[in-house]
Amino acid sequence: MAKVLILSGAGISAESGISTFRDSDGLWENHKIEDVCTVGCLDVNEEATKNFYDARRADIKDKKPNYAHKLIVQIKQKYPNDIYVFTQNIDDMFEKAGIKKNEIIHLHGYLLEIRCRKCEKLYEIGYQKQDDFLDDCISCGGKLRPHIVFFGENAPMYEVLNYELNTCDLIVVIGTSSNVLDVTYFAQLVDKSILNNLEPSDAIDDTYFTKVIYAPATQAIAEITEYIEYFIENN
Ligand code: APR
Repeated sequence: MAKVLILSGAGISAESGISTFRDSDGLWENHKIEDVCTVGCLDVNEEATKNFYDARRADIKDKKPNYAHKLIVQIKQKYPNDIYVFTQNIDDMFEKAGIKKNEIIHLHGYLLEIRCRKCEKLYEIGYQKQDDFLDDCISCGGKLRPHIVFFGENAPMYEVLNYELNTCDLIVVIGTSSNVLDVTYFAQLVDKSILNNLEPSDAIDDTYFTKVIYAPATQAIAEITEYIEYFIENN
């Protein structure tokens, strides 16, 4: 049985109209990481941090999944036991395309959830502003926070990713600059690898990939899913 891991980043949602982080006019050009996405920012900058994620929720409310999200959900549902879907994205484009909760892992958290800073209870907030939703945790009275992994914080789902990478045969990387996760290293762990980005990234050595496609994800995805399907059927 072939095992395929799909890892996406902000680039896959770019054509849905959601800003990436590091492309020109990306989120980190207009906001400081240390103000709203760094360990401790809730202690020194709580309002700005809440406002930033409230704005992200409002931004994605009417955004729609694109062809790349849809084809990935389709192929995952066709081969549920062969394909593992991981995303660094905190948006809900895969969910809007029909993926179920247990079919995807959000490595960096999920905008539509908030959690208690004390007891970790999770709440489904949808697209609401945090302050309009609840003041404090109903279980323990603790303060609430976006369910997002800030820089410097533990990312518990990385353990799952590392575990699956070790037994993976094909990795498919779509829409990430690799400034956070080292996809060049991942490509060296597996037999076959595909990279799809809009353009080369300084943080990726694409010579380690079996197949490299520099094109918008919506244009590349049919070729990618055909490759995955052929790979699964023939391994
Ligand atoms: N199709 C494919 N790739 C695209 C497209 C597109 N239409 N548009 C942009 N890209 C690519 C760019 O070429 C770039 O390599 O998407 C990548 C976006 O990179 P980043 O903005 O750095 O996003 P990402 O790699 O997902 O960021 C990783 O950093 O800020 C943190 O936690 C945040 O999850 C995020 C992590």
